Amino acid sequence: MKLKITIAAAMLLATTGLARADGPSAIEMRQVGMSLLSGDFAGIRAVIAAKGDVKTLENPAKAMQRWAALTPSLFPKGTETGGNTKAMPEIWSDAAGFAKASAALGEAAGVMMAAAKAGDADAAAAAVKGIGDACGACHKGYRAK
Ligand code: HEC
Repeated sequence: MKLKITIAAAMLLATTGLARADGPSAIEMRQVGMSLLSGDFAGIRAVIAAKGDVKTLENPAKAMQRWAALTPSLFPKGTETGGNTKAMPEIWSDAAGFAKASAALGEAAGVMMAAAKAGDADAAAAAVKGIGDACGACHKGYRAK
């Protein structure tokens, strides 16, 4: 009996150890990333609204573009549920559509990068709308309310 309990305890330890070796949770990573993305976007909008120096928006737009490229990889199989995720099943059943929605954000961020680099305030203001549309389109199809 005592041996059985020891084996059970050892197995429990082994599984917890494994879970830790898996690294950070994909669900938490993508939720935190989306929060940061949201802050990044708010900062971009604030500069546009204040008619600030759009040249400073190149880096935040680049970060957004890199995030968009990474997005599909943060929804691996096995993370459909758990951790309060709002991810909809369509992310996995329509993976091509989800990849396209991610790419759309990447493209919109690229437009912002170009406008920022050129110091073109009008183009940057227009690019904000493109980014907002890309967020909204993906949330509509792939994020639960
Ligand atoms: C390719 C799809 C896609 C794009 C593009 C996208 N999102 Fe999301 N977003 C999601 C999904 C899916 C979730 C839910 C993730 C989860 O709960 O596991 C989410 C969650 C969020 C959240 C909640 C994070 C939390 O704390 O749980 C915020 C805020 C957010 N997105 C903001 C944005 C903004 C701002 C943009 C555009 C700049 C954007 N998203 C673009 C798919 C997308």
